[in-house]
Amino acid sequence: DSYSLLILPGDGIGPEVMAEVRKIIDWFQSNRGMRFDVSEDLVGGAAYDVHGKPITDETMAKAQSVDAVLLGAVGGPAYDNLDFSVKPERALLRLRKEMDLFANLRPAQCFDALADFSSLKREVVSGLDILIVRELTSGVYFGEPRGIHSDGNNPENEGGRVGINTQRYTSGEIRRVARAAFELARKRKNRLCSMEKANVMESGVLWREEVQWVHDNEYPEVELTHMYADNGAMQLVRRPSQFDVIVTDNLFGDILSDAAAMLTGSLGMLPSASLGVPAANGRPKAMYEPVHGSAPDIAGQGKANPIACILSFAMALRYSYNEGAAADELEAAVERVLAQGARTADLMGPEGGTPIGTAEMGDRIVA
Ligand code: NAI
Ligand code: MG
Repeated sequence: DSYSLLILPGDGIGPEVMAEVRKIIDWFQSNRGMRFDVSEDLVGGAAYDVHGKPITDETMAKAQSVDAVLLGAVGGPAYDNLDFSVKPERALLRLRKEMDLFANLRPAQCFDALADFSSLKREVVSGLDILIVRELTSGVYFGEPRGIHSDGNNPENEGGRVGINTQRYTSGEIRRVARAAFELARKRKNRLCSMEKANVMESGVLWREEVQWVHDNEYPEVELTHMYADNGAMQLVRRPSQFDVIVTDNLFGDILSDAAAMLTGSLGMLPSASLGVPAANGRPKAMYEPVHGSAPDIAGQGKANPIACILSFAMALRYSYNEGAAADELEAAVERVLAQGARTADLMGPEGGTPIGTAEMGDRIVA
């Protein structure tokens, strides 16, 4: 049985970092008896150059049929003035929407060798490994009614306008992201913390009740706690290691995951995943990608950090292919290489030193 993978390198440094993931895949095939059925396609500006659109229907169909999609990055100055309908970013939106990727996974993982890059004290973040699961397709960013309206002739309202957004969650939307989070917790330390504001929001009350329902009926063996999201923000900065998996809504997840990202330092280190509904074989629709963009300022120079993309592949091993031991092995290799002092330019501290390039970082991790 082979693992199907669609690779979409994209633009800028995307193809450069993806070449290093290819080496990792080859290593696992040669040394761990895994078989990957890898296909590769164009996305973003690279697809626009050839097809006049950022992703074709054929590529979309392929993305829908594989176990996992691994995407590099899209965009760049050459495409900044294109019509919105064919902008590279539209490919990401289309993939997320048509694959219904409702659970966005943002790990905050701090390798000991990089603990001094954190905005927090070394002892607070060293060895940190938490996972934030953000609901991605509903909530206040999408709820109706929304808009900016005139407030009639209300004399009490200076300016006379009102801006409206609606936080709206269905029980079904909450249950499916809760289920995804419980599944992830089971593959980790078996602990889930759900964050909302049930003290002041109806959607928060429903969120808490439905997450508890999924726990009681389907995952009673996972340890579940609830926390108000504002306290959660404080706790993430105070003592982040108290968490394993955190599940929260779209808005709180947006903010909490950006805050958590800064616990660990460089953009070149941050992986992510977006998951949808499990298919018949139990594997969820899934897309993995580094958090960073196409980095046009360093593209083509062979100095991009490939680790964010490599760690995104490690997430695919763990969450799509159920190869947790292989994911651990890959993450340990990254940790060891960093501990030996290997640094791409983005990881150079004020003490200086000689940075290595993209390919050498990949080679060292393989070694
Ligand atoms: P960016 O993430 O591409 O770059 C921000 C800064 O971080 C740059 O100085 C870059 O050199 C550095 N950087 C990023 N990744 C790095 C890596 N792996 N190694 C070393 N340094 C790294 O964000 P920016 O500059 O705002 O956007 C550039 C282009 O990328 C734009 O066209 C934007 O639309 C697109 N973009 C695409 C994303 C995606 O494909 N998911 C996400 C964010 C931006
Ligand atoms: Mg954000």
